[in-house]
Amino acid sequence: MSIESIQTDRIDLDLAYRFDFSEPAVYSDPFPYYRALLATGPIIVQRQIPWAIVSRYDDVVAVLRDHQRYSSVNPHLPGTEAYDAFHEIPVMTFSDEPDHARLRRVAAPSLALRRMEQMAPTFLALVDEILDEFWQGKPEVDAVCYLAQEVPIRAFAHLLAIPKSECETLRALGVGKPRTDAPAAFSFYDPQFMQSRAEFIHKLVQMRKGESGGQDLISLAIAAHEKDEKINDLELFGMVMVLVTGGIGTTADLISGALYQMLRRPELYEEIRRDHTLVAPLLEETLRYDGPIHTLFRVTTGEVEVGGLRIPPRTPVCVVNGAADRDPRKFPEPERFDIRRDNEDHLGFGEGIHFCIGAWAARVEARVALQRVLERFPRLRIAAGWTPRYNGNAFGRGLSTLPLVLG
Ligand code: HEM
Repeated sequence: MSIESIQTDRIDLDLAYRFDFSEPAVYSDPFPYYRALLATGPIIVQRQIPWAIVSRYDDVVAVLRDHQRYSSVNPHLPGTEAYDAFHEIPVMTFSDEPDHARLRRVAAPSLALRRMEQMAPTFLALVDEILDEFWQGKPEVDAVCYLAQEVPIRAFAHLLAIPKSECETLRALGVGKPRTDAPAAFSFYDPQFMQSRAEFIHKLVQMRKGESGGQDLISLAIAAHEKDEKINDLELFGMVMVLVTGGIGTTADLISGALYQMLRRPELYEEIRRDHTLVAPLLEETLRYDGPIHTLFRVTTGEVEVGGLRIPPRTPVCVVNGAADRDPRKFPEPERFDIRRDNEDHLGFGEGIHFCIGAWAARVEARVALQRVLERFPRLRIAAGWTPRYNGNAFGRGLSTLPLVLG
């Protein structure tokens, strides 16, 4: 029996046509939808305008690698507002070549693997600060609010040389809400939020322009800008905006997600507790199994064909990397969480020219955070009675809380 026929016996194929990740019913549990999408293959669904949905691993890779026929620029198509978050501000995520490469070159060196590994001791000190402040001596703690979010917020404050007093603003920009244990009804696309985010970043860039010689990300981008006009003022502003918006919430979701995947499996927890080097593979398998980003956005530039489906020009394409990472054609027994599996080709950070520029920042921050927690709090457990609930948006999801008993 083929993989397809085994699967279709058990799944509701209609779910494929109802897939819309921004719906709470979908992001709360997207996996039945993924099984339906993977069994069906690429499809066109009718929303305000027709959308293509691409979910099988090979098809997703084909789309993400073909940046000429699948553009990242959203030409303001009706019903795609969630994928148009930066409006007229140019950012690399929603740019095509040659602008994309020019913008990416400015930020890439400061987020490279070597530089991030050099930052590991600084990140470790930040994690210790957080654990001293919020964990030490407490019986229970919410690991989303008081670890997962706090690590990237402080790491970013450091990377961007933002004073500690501005961390609350950074929190609102990065995770979209002030510190609270309640799930938030919040939209990054809220005009008021966009406005306050714009004002904060504008202030930061202006401040940094008056200084010179800084090694933080904003100063490096300004230096590149002033040296040979690689990027203009609006692009510089967009750069800070996309890094903060793209880098904090996602890393927070990875940290809490990995802790959850580990702690819900006592044998795995035991194994990782004995060997902290297993944190790195735990993170990679979390990214494959249920990572922070589940869908990506593209628009066809002409008529294209993928997985046997013809897609007309100017059609929005929802690229479901979250489903591709559960494709049994690529990952045998995809629903088994296995930190030892061959998963290095997972699509949790995307693929092709837009592959996540912050992947190493996220990996190093998350690794250092989890290893330190394992060292300092070796008898963790998830609080009794808790069940996972997720905050989500059109792109991805993350736990809204993770209450841990500390000893
Ligand atoms: C676990 C954490 C993270 C996940 C799961 C993640 C995921 C992704 C994915 C899937 C893409 C591809 C987007 C596309 O193809 O359309 C992407 C791109 C991007 N990410 Fe991340 N990301 C994470 C952390 C970060 C961090 C820490 C930063 C900033 C330091 C960041 C900044 C960006 C930017 C600027 C892009 C656009 C790159 C380009 O267009 O060339 N991300 N990310």
